[in-house]
Amino acid sequence: MIKRETIQAVYQAANVVDVIQDFVQLKRIGANYKTLSPFTNEKTPSFVVSPQKNIWKCFSTNKGGDAIKFLQEYERLSWPDAIKYVAKKYNITIQYEKSSQEEKEKADKREQLFHALDFYKSLFVKNLWNPHMNAIPMNYLRSRGFDDQTIKAFGLGYARQSRQDQYNQAIKSGIKDEILKELGLVFITDIGQTIDRFRDRIIFPVFSLSGRTTGFGGRVIESKGSIAKYLNSSESEVYQKSKLLYGLFQARQEIRMKDACHIVEGYTDVIKMYQKGIKNVVASAGTALTKEQVRLIGNNTKNIILLFDSDAAGQSAALRSINLILEQGLNVKVCALPKGEDPDSFSIKNTLEDIQEYLEAQSEDFIEFKANQLGIAESDNPTEKAEVINQIIASIAVIPNLIEREFYIKKAAKSFQLDERNLFDAMAQEISKKQRFESRKFTSPILKTVEPTPQKHKEVKTQQSDQLKKSLEELLEDLVLYATREITIDETTKSTENFQYTLTKRKVKVFEKIESLFQEENLFYESEVDQKLFELLIHQCKTQGTLDEQFFCMIGSKNPDFTTRVSHFTMKYEAYPLSQWENQNIAVPTIDQGAEEKINDDLLNLEKLLVEQKIESLEEKFKQLDKKGVFQSKEGNELLRQIVEYNDMKSLISERLERIV
Ligand code: CTP
Ligand code: MN
Repeated sequence: MIKRETIQAVYQAANVVDVIQDFVQLKRIGANYKTLSPFTNEKTPSFVVSPQKNIWKCFSTNKGGDAIKFLQEYERLSWPDAIKYVAKKYNITIQYEKSSQEEKEKADKREQLFHALDFYKSLFVKNLWNPHMNAIPMNYLRSRGFDDQTIKAFGLGYARQSRQDQYNQAIKSGIKDEILKELGLVFITDIGQTIDRFRDRIIFPVFSLSGRTTGFGGRVIESKGSIAKYLNSSESEVYQKSKLLYGLFQARQEIRMKDACHIVEGYTDVIKMYQKGIKNVVASAGTALTKEQVRLIGNNTKNIILLFDSDAAGQSAALRSINLILEQGLNVKVCALPKGEDPDSFSIKNTLEDIQEYLEAQSEDFIEFKANQLGIAESDNPTEKAEVINQIIASIAVIPNLIEREFYIKKAAKSFQLDERNLFDAMAQEISKKQRFESRKFTSPILKTVEPTPQKHKEVKTQQSDQLKKSLEELLEDLVLYATREITIDETTKSTENFQYTLTKRKVKVFEKIESLFQEENLFYESEVDQKLFELLIHQCKTQGTLDEQFFCMIGSKNPDFTTRVSHFTMKYEAYPLSQWENQNIAVPTIDQGAEEKINDDLLNLEKLLVEQKIESLEEKFKQLDKKGVFQSKEGNELLRQIVEYNDMKSLISERLERIV
């Protein structure tokens, strides 16, 4: 553990321009620096660095934060590694907490695991390239069309046939027996002899994102009867198949540049596509695609193309992967290769241009793919057709973004010539089915009292919650920018004389008003980062009375994601250089302009949403009474009175919001 003092010193020293310039060329425009986003392929620069705020923001990808966060995003460094990088850059000596014995041993052991893996990898590579050794493995690779540069880029090697050769060398170099056992590099025979696990196999090392060897796949050279074609490292602290992607280390840069990633099935597929010039390619070698793997890709691009053999196994793997990808908010296309080909064989027979053309022409979005695979065209049977459509709707329903869902529904309606409304209804059903399994995260007491809405309104419901989210986000922005300011707000109060709602002016500190509103209405943020940030801001205001530069400078040490949120709010108006606004004769907005008015609007907007929910829930209750024919009761009268009252309050707020000032 790095000492607190060191972390503080690092955050104090870390200059965002300095750090970013180690990786990206920045051009000064006005008060800021600006350049093409290093996270995506774009023509108009949208990456802005503010030296004053010591913060950066990428308007294309919505990433942003401080210098440390940049290292995490761009270099994919862990937080401690990013701290270490900055410390080194500014000659800050890193002091470590006297860690407990246990922690020390753990770090030590990880290092030993990596060291052993590195050692074996070097042996394998040497074995392959040594001209005095067995020439068969190299000849095999060459005969399959691997060229030298590629063999080196992927660190391919050869495990010798000998039972103990590699093992003996490792032991001699001081590597411990138990480390090798833990990594599954050796095993113990029936007669108690320790021998190497990978023998007489071509070795495909698997790299971590930072390029360290974490495990191996080994392929037999000649297929020999019952021996498995591939042998993989066993699961260990540093090698978890489900959380790794073969080739990601080599492909990462290209995936970002091309803003797309191909997924293939095997080691050789990745390597051959790469060699051919299609370098944005990875494989989930040895497992079905997992959520973690999709997330790994999602850190680099939102666009996935599944490249599969057109055999039954390939198709069904693709079908299985689609929802997994959509669920993570990524886009997916599927490209089936010609019969009998895998990416390896396909890349041998075709030029790069041919392959690119094929990918372009044959990639289908998931709607087309599912429809074709499930055989919609061949079928005349309405029940069968409906089943296919339902399968497609089920995929659309897992997409987290409402607008994207709508887009796909419209597309599906058009391609199958069906009524959009029916498809929306079917999707709403699908979503509510799903929601019944998931506990609702947002539990305002107001929402709790809402009766289950009929399915038709389901979509509207989701939209409302999006509105609420947006409204809550505005208040978070107000906290970041103006928390401790004193402003005059228009508050709805109930007169004690005639029980009517009126607006009265009151002076309050922004954070105090927001906090009390959150408490009264039992509100919170669905996003964990936002909720934590909210709590931190309020706490800081209460204890220190201010959110100063010093506080924001250190905010990343509490949680690096906070800096992303802060940059989101503070960089809002930095997207365009000053001149662009001025050219168009548009007044340059500054974040202070109309602050008081904005905060008032934000508060009232939220209150309006809450009131609307209350009215909706009361009306629903009233309807129930009406159904039973007992609305003319004491309870019914009371409900009516409340509905009228809340409607008054709503018009009061609406009028105030529409007032032109
Ligand atoms: N695989 C595995 N264990 C096996 C078989 C396959 O882990 N016993 C994994 C490997 O990652 C392999 C992938 O599944 O790369 C796809 O298998 P396959 O298509 O059989 O192998 P290829 O990669 O095509 O290898 P080759 O072209 O050398 O036959
Ligand atoms: Mn193959």
